[in-house]
Amino acid sequence: MSTYHIQTYGCQMNYSDTERMEAYLQALGYDKSATFDEADLIMFNTCSIRQSAEDRVYGHMRTIEQMRRKHRKITVVVTGCMVRKSSSRYSSQRDKLFGTMRELDIALRTEELPKLATLAREIDPESKIPEIKEESLEDYFKIDPTHSSHQSKAQAFVAISNGCDKFCTYCIVPYSRGREKSRDVQDILKECEKLVENGCKEITLIGQTVNSYGLSQYDKEEKTFEFLGEKEPFIYLLEEVDKLHEKGLVRTRFTSPHPKDMSDQLIHAMATLKTHMPYLHLPVQAGDNRTLKRMNRTYTVEHYRKIMAKLRSAIPGISISTDIIVGFCGETEEEFENTYNFFNEMDFEHGYISQYSERSGTTAAKFIKDDITDQTKQERWNKLNDGLLRAKSKKAHERFLGKIVHVLVENQEGKKCLGRSEHYKTVQFAAASGSNLLGEIVPVRITKAMEWILEGELA
Ligand code: 5AD
Ligand code: SF4
Repeated sequence: MSTYHIQTYGCQMNYSDTERMEAYLQALGYDKSATFDEADLIMFNTCSIRQSAEDRVYGHMRTIEQMRRKHRKITVVVTGCMVRKSSSRYSSQRDKLFGTMRELDIALRTEELPKLATLAREIDPESKIPEIKEESLEDYFKIDPTHSSHQSKAQAFVAISNGCDKFCTYCIVPYSRGREKSRDVQDILKECEKLVENGCKEITLIGQTVNSYGLSQYDKEEKTFEFLGEKEPFIYLLEEVDKLHEKGLVRTRFTSPHPKDMSDQLIHAMATLKTHMPYLHLPVQAGDNRTLKRMNRTYTVEHYRKIMAKLRSAIPGISISTDIIVGFCGETEEEFENTYNFFNEMDFEHGYISQYSERSGTTAAKFIKDDITDQTKQERWNKLNDGLLRAKSKKAHERFLGKIVHVLVENQEGKKCLGRSEHYKTVQFAAASGSNLLGEIVPVRITKAMEWILEGELA
Protein backbone atom coordinates (compact mmCIF):
# COMPACT_ATOMS: atom_id res chain seq x y z
CA MET A 1 0.00 0.00 0.00
CA SER A 2 1.41 3.44 -0.97
CA THR A 3 1.48 6.18 1.61
CA TYR A 4 1.26 9.98 1.59
CA HIS A 5 2.42 12.79 3.80
CA ILE A 6 1.11 16.36 3.47
CA GLN A 7 3.10 19.26 4.85
CA THR A 8 0.82 22.28 5.25
CA TYR A 9 1.82 25.95 5.48
CA GLY A 10 -0.15 29.15 5.87
CA CYS A 11 -3.71 30.02 6.78
CA GLN A 12 -6.68 27.97 7.99
CA MET A 13 -7.87 27.76 4.39
CA ASN A 14 -4.80 25.72 3.52
CA TYR A 15 -5.40 23.39 6.47
CA SER A 16 -8.96 22.95 5.29
CA ASP A 17 -7.76 22.25 1.72
CA THR A 18 -5.37 19.64 3.11
CA GLU A 19 -8.38 17.82 4.57
CA ARG A 20 -9.84 17.55 1.03
CA MET A 21 -6.47 16.47 -0.36
CA GLU A 22 -6.28 13.70 2.24
CA ALA A 23 -9.76 12.47 1.35
CA TYR A 24 -8.86 12.45 -2.34
CA LEU A 25 -5.56 10.60 -1.80
CA GLN A 26 -7.31 8.04 0.38
CA ALA A 27 -9.84 7.48 -2.42
CA LEU A 28 -6.90 6.82 -4.74
CA GLY A 29 -5.75 4.11 -2.36
CA TYR A 30 -3.05 5.96 -0.43
CA ASP A 31 -2.67 5.57 3.32
CA LYS A 32 -1.54 8.33 5.66
CA SER A 33 2.14 7.95 6.55
CA ALA A 34 3.15 8.67 10.10
CA THR A 35 6.33 10.40 8.96
CA PHE A 36 7.64 12.50 6.12
CA ASP A 37 10.64 10.17 5.72
CA GLU A 38 8.60 7.06 4.96
CA ALA A 39 5.95 8.44 2.60
CA ASP A 40 5.80 7.47 -1.09
CA LEU A 41 3.99 10.66 -2.06
CA ILE A 42 5.00 13.91 -0.38
CA MET A 43 2.77 16.88 -0.88
CA PHE A 44 3.57 20.46 0.10
CA ASN A 45 0.48 22.59 0.52
CA THR A 46 2.15 25.96 0.20
CA CYS A 47 1.62 29.58 1.15
CA SER A 48 2.84 32.54 -0.92
CA ILE A 49 1.78 35.40 1.28
CA ARG A 50 5.39 36.25 2.16
CA GLN A 51 8.71 35.18 0.70
CA SER A 52 9.67 33.52 4.00
CA ALA A 53 6.80 31.02 3.61
CA GLU A 54 8.04 30.02 0.16
CA ASP A 55 11.63 29.71 1.36
CA ARG A 56 10.62 27.02 3.82
CA VAL A 57 9.38 24.80 0.99
CA TYR A 58 12.62 25.28 -0.93
CA GLY A 59 14.45 24.25 2.26
CA HIS A 60 12.61 20.90 2.23
CA MET A 61 13.69 20.21 -1.34
CA ARG A 62 17.23 19.64 -0.09
CA THR A 63 15.97 16.87 2.19
CA ILE A 64 14.10 15.31 -0.74
CA GLU A 65 17.27 15.40 -2.83
CA GLN A 66 19.10 13.50 -0.08
CA MET A 67 16.28 10.97 0.20
CA ARG A 68 16.45 10.35 -3.55
CA ARG A 69 20.21 9.93 -3.43
CA LYS A 70 19.53 7.01 -1.11
CA HIS A 71 17.32 5.60 -3.92
CA ARG A 72 14.03 6.29 -2.20
CA LYS A 73 11.27 6.41 -4.81
CA ILE A 74 9.12 9.42 -3.98
CA THR A 75 6.53 11.47 -5.85
CA VAL A 76 6.84 15.15 -4.95
CA VAL A 77 3.76 17.35 -5.34
CA VAL A 78 3.57 21.07 -4.69
CA THR A 79 0.08 22.51 -4.35
CA GLY A 80 -1.48 25.60 -2.79
CA CYS A 81 -0.64 29.21 -3.42
CA MET A 82 2.77 28.74 -5.06
CA VAL A 83 1.27 27.03 -8.11
CA ARG A 84 -0.14 28.77 -11.19
CA LYS A 85 -0.46 25.91 -13.66
CA SER A 86 -1.38 22.31 -12.87
CA SER A 87 1.24 20.21 -14.66
CA SER A 88 3.66 17.31 -14.30
CA ARG A 89 7.36 17.24 -15.10
CA TYR A 90 6.40 15.65 -18.45
CA SER A 91 3.66 18.13 -19.40
CA SER A 92 4.31 20.26 -22.47
CA GLN A 93 3.31 23.45 -20.64
CA ARG A 94 4.73 23.38 -17.14
CA ASP A 95 4.39 25.61 -14.11
CA LYS A 96 7.32 27.96 -13.69
CA LEU A 97 8.17 26.22 -10.37
CA PHE A 98 9.76 23.45 -12.44
CA GLY A 99 12.47 25.99 -13.31
CA THR A 100 13.51 26.45 -9.68
CA MET A 101 12.59 23.11 -8.03
CA ARG A 102 14.49 20.26 -9.60
CA GLU A 103 12.88 17.70 -7.30
CA LEU A 104 9.33 18.59 -8.30
CA ASP A 105 7.14 15.99 -10.06
CA ILE A 106 3.69 17.56 -9.98
CA ALA A 107 2.47 21.14 -9.56
CA LEU A 108 -1.22 21.27 -8.71
CA ARG A 109 -3.58 24.22 -8.32
CA THR A 110 -5.66 23.65 -5.20
CA GLU A 111 -9.05 23.81 -6.89
CA GLU A 112 -7.80 21.41 -9.56
CA LEU A 113 -7.18 18.66 -7.04
CA PRO A 114 -9.24 16.16 -9.11
CA LYS A 115 -6.51 16.37 -11.80
CA LEU A 116 -4.00 14.76 -9.44
CA ALA A 117 -4.76 11.18 -10.50
CA THR A 118 -4.07 11.94 -14.17
CA LEU A 119 -0.87 13.84 -13.37
CA ALA A 120 0.33 11.03 -11.09
CA ARG A 121 -0.20 8.53 -13.91
CA GLU A 122 1.84 10.79 -16.20
CA ILE A 123 4.72 10.54 -13.72
CA ASP A 124 4.45 6.81 -13.22
CA PRO A 125 2.52 4.98 -15.98
CA GLU A 126 3.10 1.68 -14.12
CA SER A 127 1.33 2.91 -11.00
CA LYS A 128 -1.94 1.32 -10.05
CA ILE A 129 -3.78 4.57 -9.43
CA PRO A 130 -7.44 3.79 -10.16
CA GLU A 131 -9.72 5.70 -12.52
CA ILE A 132 -11.97 7.91 -10.44
CA LYS A 133 -15.60 7.34 -11.24
CA GLU A 134 -17.41 8.96 -8.34
CA GLU A 135 -18.90 12.33 -9.20
CA SER A 136 -18.16 13.48 -5.66
CA LEU A 137 -14.44 13.34 -6.41
CA GLU A 138 -14.57 15.27 -9.66
CA ASP A 139 -15.31 18.67 -8.17
CA TYR A 140 -12.96 20.10 -5.56
CA PHE A 141 -15.75 21.44 -3.35
CA LYS A 142 -17.74 18.19 -3.52
CA ILE A 143 -14.89 16.23 -1.97
CA ASP A 144 -15.78 15.31 1.58
CA PRO A 145 -12.94 16.59 3.83
CA THR A 146 -11.35 14.38 6.49
CA HIS A 147 -11.63 17.13 9.14
CA SER A 148 -8.33 16.03 10.59
CA SER A 149 -6.98 19.54 11.39
CA HIS A 150 -8.33 19.40 14.92
CA GLN A 151 -7.43 16.81 17.50
CA SER A 152 -11.02 16.28 18.56
CA LYS A 153 -14.19 15.97 16.53
CA ALA A 154 -15.70 18.78 18.59
CA GLN A 155 -14.22 21.40 16.25
CA ALA A 156 -14.15 21.81 12.48
CA PHE A 157 -13.34 24.25 9.70
CA VAL A 158 -15.91 24.45 6.95
CA ALA A 159 -14.81 26.17 3.75
CA ILE A 160 -17.59 28.24 2.20
CA SER A 161 -15.77 29.93 -0.68
CA ASN A 162 -12.47 30.00 -2.48
CA GLY A 163 -10.52 32.73 -4.23
CA CYS A 164 -10.73 36.49 -3.89
CA ASP A 165 -12.03 39.36 -6.02
CA LYS A 166 -10.70 42.20 -3.89
CA PHE A 167 -7.25 42.64 -5.43
CA CYS A 168 -5.45 44.40 -2.61
CA THR A 169 -2.34 45.63 -4.39
CA TYR A 170 0.14 43.74 -2.18
CA CYS A 171 -1.64 40.39 -2.19
CA ILE A 172 -0.97 37.28 -4.25
CA VAL A 173 -4.20 35.46 -3.33
CA PRO A 174 -6.39 36.66 -6.24
CA TYR A 175 -3.72 35.27 -8.58
CA SER A 176 -2.93 32.08 -6.69
CA ARG A 177 -6.50 31.09 -5.87
CA GLY A 178 -8.24 32.86 -8.71
CA ARG A 179 -11.64 34.53 -8.75
CA GLU A 180 -13.92 34.18 -5.77
CA LYS A 181 -16.38 31.31 -6.01
CA SER A 182 -18.95 30.39 -3.38
CA ARG A 183 -19.67 26.86 -2.49
CA ASP A 184 -23.17 25.47 -2.86
CA VAL A 185 -25.18 26.49 0.20
CA GLN A 186 -26.89 23.11 0.56
CA ASP A 187 -23.55 21.32 0.42
CA ILE A 188 -22.23 23.56 3.19
CA LEU A 189 -25.28 22.97 5.35
CA LYS A 190 -25.17 19.23 4.78
CA GLU A 191 -21.53 19.17 5.85
CA CYS A 192 -22.31 21.21 8.98
CA GLU A 193 -25.24 18.99 9.87
CA LYS A 194 -23.18 15.85 9.50
CA LEU A 195 -20.45 17.34 11.65
CA VAL A 196 -22.87 18.23 14.42
CA GLU A 197 -24.45 14.79 14.29
CA ASN A 198 -20.95 13.41 14.83
CA GLY A 199 -20.37 15.52 17.93
CA CYS A 200 -19.01 18.79 16.53
CA LYS A 201 -19.59 21.70 18.94
CA GLU A 202 -17.73 24.50 17.18
CA ILE A 203 -17.79 25.29 13.47
CA THR A 204 -15.55 27.93 11.93
CA LEU A 205 -16.74 29.03 8.50
CA ILE A 206 -13.76 30.00 6.39
CA GLY A 207 -13.10 31.85 3.16
CA GLN A 208 -10.63 34.44 1.90
CA THR A 209 -13.23 37.17 2.34
CA VAL A 210 -15.77 35.07 4.11
CA ASN A 211 -18.44 37.75 4.47
CA SER A 212 -18.66 38.36 0.73
CA TYR A 213 -20.09 34.85 0.42
CA GLY A 214 -22.51 34.84 -2.52
CA LEU A 215 -21.67 38.40 -3.56
CA SER A 216 -18.90 37.64 -6.04
CA GLN A 217 -19.07 38.49 -9.73
CA TYR A 218 -19.34 34.78 -10.47
CA ASP A 219 -22.35 34.41 -8.16
CA LYS A 220 -24.00 37.48 -9.65
CA GLU A 221 -23.64 36.07 -13.14
CA GLU A 222 -24.93 32.67 -12.04
CA LYS A 223 -27.80 34.37 -10.10
CA THR A 224 -27.18 31.77 -7.38
CA PHE A 225 -28.75 33.69 -4.54
CA GLU A 226 -31.51 35.59 -6.29
CA PHE A 227 -34.08 33.67 -4.23
CA LEU A 228 -32.95 35.51 -1.08
CA GLY A 229 -34.09 38.98 -2.17
CA GLU A 230 -32.63 41.62 0.17
CA LYS A 231 -31.07 39.20 2.60
CA GLU A 232 -27.32 38.78 2.24
CA PRO A 233 -26.29 35.21 1.39
CA PHE A 234 -23.78 35.14 4.24
CA ILE A 235 -26.46 36.05 6.78
CA TYR A 236 -28.73 33.36 5.40
CA LEU A 237 -25.92 30.86 5.79
CA LEU A 238 -25.13 31.95 9.36
CA GLU A 239 -28.80 31.70 10.31
CA GLU A 240 -29.14 28.23 8.85
CA VAL A 241 -25.98 27.03 10.60
CA ASP A 242 -27.21 28.58 13.85
CA LYS A 243 -30.31 26.37 13.70
CA LEU A 244 -28.01 23.42 14.35
CA HIS A 245 -27.89 24.66 17.93
CA GLU A 246 -30.86 22.39 18.57
CA LYS A 247 -28.79 19.42 17.47
CA GLY A 248 -25.80 20.23 19.67
CA LEU A 249 -23.83 22.99 17.94
CA VAL A 250 -22.61 25.42 20.61
CA ARG A 251 -20.23 27.79 18.86
CA THR A 252 -19.81 29.35 15.42
CA ARG A 253 -17.04 31.61 14.24
CA PHE A 254 -15.99 32.87 10.81
CA THR A 255 -12.75 34.08 9.34
CA SER A 256 -11.61 36.33 7.72
CA PRO A 257 -14.08 39.05 6.86
CA HIS A 258 -13.32 42.14 4.77
CA PRO A 259 -14.31 45.48 6.37
CA LYS A 260 -16.09 46.58 3.16
CA ASP A 261 -18.66 43.80 3.57
CA MET A 262 -19.21 44.20 7.34
CA SER A 263 -22.84 45.24 6.92
CA ASP A 264 -25.33 46.25 9.62
CA GLN A 265 -27.23 43.03 8.83
CA LEU A 266 -24.14 41.04 9.62
CA ILE A 267 -23.38 42.83 12.88
CA HIS A 268 -26.99 42.31 13.93
CA ALA A 269 -26.76 38.61 13.11
CA MET A 270 -23.53 38.24 15.09
CA ALA A 271 -25.20 39.88 18.06
CA THR A 272 -28.38 37.84 17.99
CA LEU A 273 -27.53 34.34 16.77
CA LYS A 274 -27.37 31.81 19.60
CA THR A 275 -24.11 30.22 18.59
CA HIS A 276 -22.02 33.16 17.42
CA MET A 277 -19.04 33.84 19.68
CA PRO A 278 -18.02 37.36 20.85
CA TYR A 279 -14.85 37.46 18.80
CA LEU A 280 -13.89 38.80 15.38
CA HIS A 281 -10.67 38.94 13.40
CA LEU A 282 -11.11 41.98 11.16
CA PRO A 283 -7.99 42.78 9.12
CA VAL A 284 -7.41 46.54 8.82
CA GLN A 285 -3.87 46.39 7.29
CA ALA A 286 -3.15 50.11 7.93
CA GLY A 287 -4.49 53.02 9.93
CA ASP A 288 -3.75 55.72 7.37
CA ASN A 289 -5.99 56.63 4.43
CA ARG A 290 -3.15 57.18 1.96
CA THR A 291 -1.64 53.79 2.76
CA LEU A 292 -5.07 52.13 2.54
CA LYS A 293 -5.60 53.75 -0.86
CA ARG A 294 -2.28 52.49 -2.20
CA MET A 295 -3.21 49.07 -0.86
CA ASN A 296 -6.61 49.26 -2.65
CA ARG A 297 -8.41 48.37 0.55
CA THR A 298 -11.51 50.33 -0.61
CA TYR A 299 -12.41 51.72 2.83
CA THR A 300 -11.16 54.56 4.98
CA VAL A 301 -10.01 54.76 8.56
CA GLU A 302 -13.25 56.59 9.36
CA HIS A 303 -15.35 53.77 7.90
CA TYR A 304 -13.42 51.12 9.83
CA ARG A 305 -13.79 53.15 13.03
CA LYS A 306 -17.59 53.21 12.52
CA ILE A 307 -17.73 49.44 12.08
CA MET A 308 -15.77 48.96 15.28
CA ALA A 309 -18.13 51.25 17.18
CA LYS A 310 -21.16 49.35 15.85
CA LEU A 311 -19.62 45.98 16.73
CA ARG A 312 -18.80 47.11 20.25
CA SER A 313 -22.20 48.58 20.87
CA ALA A 314 -24.07 45.54 19.46
CA ILE A 315 -21.83 42.97 21.16
CA PRO A 316 -20.52 44.41 24.45
CA GLY A 317 -17.13 42.98 25.40
CA ILE A 318 -16.44 41.60 21.91
CA SER A 319 -12.78 40.81 21.38
CA ILE A 320 -11.37 42.08 18.09
CA SER A 321 -8.06 41.22 16.49
CA THR A 322 -6.54 42.40 13.22
CA ASP A 323 -3.80 42.13 10.60
CA ILE A 324 -1.38 44.96 9.85
CA ILE A 325 1.30 45.27 7.20
CA VAL A 326 4.20 47.57 8.07
CA GLY A 327 6.67 48.97 5.56
CA PHE A 328 4.32 48.89 2.59
CA CYS A 329 5.61 50.77 -0.48
CA GLY A 330 5.96 54.49 0.21
CA GLU A 331 4.92 54.27 3.88
CA THR A 332 6.20 57.52 5.43
CA GLU A 333 7.09 57.95 9.09
CA GLU A 334 3.85 59.88 9.48
CA GLU A 335 1.77 57.16 7.85
CA PHE A 336 3.31 54.56 10.12
CA GLU A 337 2.63 56.78 13.16
CA ASN A 338 -1.01 56.95 12.07
CA THR A 339 -1.20 53.16 11.85
CA TYR A 340 0.42 52.85 15.28
CA ASN A 341 -1.97 55.39 16.81
CA PHE A 342 -4.95 53.74 15.15
CA PHE A 343 -3.99 50.36 16.58
CA ASN A 344 -3.79 52.01 19.97
CA GLU A 345 -7.10 53.81 19.57
CA MET A 346 -8.94 50.68 18.36
CA ASP A 347 -7.71 48.68 21.34
CA PHE A 348 -7.14 45.57 19.26
CA GLU A 349 -6.75 42.64 21.59
CA HIS A 350 -4.52 40.68 19.27
CA GLY A 351 -2.99 41.03 15.83
CA TYR A 352 -0.67 39.64 13.22
CA ILE A 353 1.86 42.22 12.17
CA SER A 354 3.67 41.48 8.89
CA GLN A 355 6.53 43.23 7.21
CA TYR A 356 5.66 43.95 3.58
CA SER A 357 7.07 41.33 1.26
CA GLU A 358 6.87 42.08 -2.47
CA ARG A 359 5.03 39.35 -4.42
CA SER A 360 5.78 39.11 -8.08
CA GLY A 361 2.73 39.62 -10.32
CA THR A 362 0.79 41.83 -7.89
CA THR A 363 -0.15 45.42 -8.76
CA ALA A 364 2.21 46.73 -6.08
CA ALA A 365 5.12 44.74 -7.50
CA LYS A 366 4.37 46.08 -10.98
CA PHE A 367 3.65 49.72 -10.23
CA ILE A 368 4.75 50.79 -6.72
CA LYS A 369 8.33 50.78 -5.56
CA ASP A 370 9.21 48.60 -2.53
CA ASP A 371 11.24 51.49 -1.16
CA ILE A 372 11.21 50.88 2.60
CA THR A 373 14.46 49.34 3.78
CA ASP A 374 14.46 46.01 5.62
CA GLN A 375 15.84 47.80 8.65
CA THR A 376 12.98 50.30 8.74
CA LYS A 377 10.43 47.48 8.26
CA GLN A 378 12.01 45.66 11.18
CA GLU A 379 12.03 48.78 13.37
CA ARG A 380 8.36 49.48 12.63
CA TRP A 381 7.47 45.87 13.27
CA ASN A 382 9.28 45.93 16.64
CA LYS A 383 7.57 49.13 17.63
CA LEU A 384 4.10 47.82 16.84
CA ASN A 385 4.52 44.21 17.85
CA ASP A 386 6.76 44.43 20.91
CA GLY A 387 5.94 47.99 21.85
CA LEU A 388 2.16 47.97 21.56
CA LEU A 389 0.61 44.61 20.69
CA ARG A 390 2.10 42.78 23.68
CA ALA A 391 0.77 45.42 26.07
CA LYS A 392 -2.68 45.40 24.43
CA SER A 393 -2.90 41.64 24.57
CA LYS A 394 -1.92 41.54 28.23
CA LYS A 395 -4.40 44.28 29.10
CA ALA A 396 -7.15 42.42 27.26
CA HIS A 397 -6.28 39.26 29.19
CA GLU A 398 -6.40 41.04 32.53
CA ARG A 399 -10.11 41.78 32.15
CA PHE A 400 -10.75 38.07 32.63
CA LEU A 401 -8.86 37.76 35.95
CA GLY A 402 -11.06 36.11 38.58
CA LYS A 403 -13.81 35.50 36.01
CA ILE A 404 -15.15 32.19 34.75
CA VAL A 405 -14.73 31.50 31.03
CA HIS A 406 -15.81 28.43 29.08
CA VAL A 407 -13.01 26.61 27.36
CA LEU A 408 -13.32 24.17 24.48
CA VAL A 409 -10.39 21.84 25.11
CA GLU A 410 -8.31 21.44 21.93
CA ASN A 411 -5.34 19.66 23.36
CA GLN A 412 -4.64 17.55 26.42
CA GLU A 413 -1.34 16.03 27.47
CA GLY A 414 -1.56 14.27 30.79
CA LYS A 415 -3.39 16.71 33.01
CA LYS A 416 -2.37 19.78 31.01
CA CYS A 417 -5.27 21.14 28.98
CA LEU A 418 -5.24 23.91 26.39
CA GLY A 419 -8.20 25.45 24.64
CA ARG A 420 -10.04 28.60 23.62
CA SER A 421 -12.56 30.65 25.52
CA GLU A 422 -15.65 32.33 24.04
CA HIS A 423 -13.45 35.36 23.24
CA TYR A 424 -10.89 33.14 21.50
CA LYS A 425 -8.36 33.53 24.28
CA THR A 426 -5.94 30.67 24.75
CA VAL A 427 -6.48 29.20 28.22
CA GLN A 428 -4.33 26.68 30.02
CA PHE A 429 -5.44 24.68 33.06
CA ALA A 430 -5.10 21.28 34.71
CA ALA A 431 -7.69 18.51 34.42
CA ALA A 432 -8.46 16.28 37.38
CA SER A 433 -6.30 13.16 37.31
CA GLY A 434 -7.57 10.48 35.03
CA SER A 435 -10.12 12.68 33.29
CA ASN A 436 -10.16 13.19 29.53
CA LEU A 437 -11.50 16.63 28.63
CA LEU A 438 -10.50 16.75 24.97
CA GLY A 439 -13.39 18.22 22.98
CA GLU A 440 -15.34 19.17 26.12
CA ILE A 441 -16.44 22.72 26.95
CA VAL A 442 -15.59 23.33 30.60
CA PRO A 443 -15.82 26.30 33.00
CA VAL A 444 -12.43 27.66 34.05
CA ARG A 445 -11.71 30.40 36.58
CA ILE A 446 -8.89 32.64 35.36
CA THR A 447 -6.06 33.02 37.87
CA LYS A 448 -3.24 34.47 35.81
CA ALA A 449 -3.15 36.78 32.76
CA MET A 450 -0.01 36.70 30.68
CA GLU A 451 0.78 38.32 27.34
CA TRP A 452 -0.31 35.54 25.01
CA ILE A 453 -2.06 33.10 27.32
CA LEU A 454 -4.43 32.87 30.27
CA GLU A 455 -4.05 30.42 33.10
CA GLY A 456 -6.84 29.11 35.26
CA GLU A 457 -8.35 26.28 37.23
CA LEU A 458 -11.47 24.21 36.70
CA ALA A 459 -14.42 26.02 38.23
N1 5AD B 1 3.44 41.13 2.53
C1 5AD B 1 3.23 41.08 3.86
N2 5AD B 1 2.07 40.69 4.42
C2 5AD B 1 1.08 40.31 3.59
N3 5AD B 1 -0.17 39.87 3.84
C3 5AD B 1 -0.76 39.62 2.67
N4 5AD B 1 0.07 39.89 1.64
C4 5AD B 1 1.22 40.32 2.18
C5 5AD B 1 2.47 40.76 1.66
N5 5AD B 1 2.68 40.81 0.34
C6 5AD B 1 -0.73 39.75 5.19
C7 5AD B 1 -2.01 40.59 5.35
C8 5AD B 1 -3.09 39.56 5.35
C9 5AD B 1 -2.39 38.38 5.99
C10 5AD B 1 -3.03 37.07 5.73
O1 5AD B 1 -1.09 38.41 5.44
O2 5AD B 1 -1.94 41.27 6.58
O3 5AD B 1 -4.24 39.94 6.07
FE1 SF4 C 1 -5.59 39.25 -0.30
FE2 SF4 C 1 -7.01 41.48 -0.03
FE3 SF4 C 1 -8.19 39.23 -0.94
FE4 SF4 C 1 -7.45 39.39 1.64
S1 SF4 C 1 -9.00 40.69 0.61
S2 SF4 C 1 -7.10 37.67 0.22
S3 SF4 C 1 -5.58 40.64 1.49
S4 SF4 C 1 -6.59 40.42 -1.98
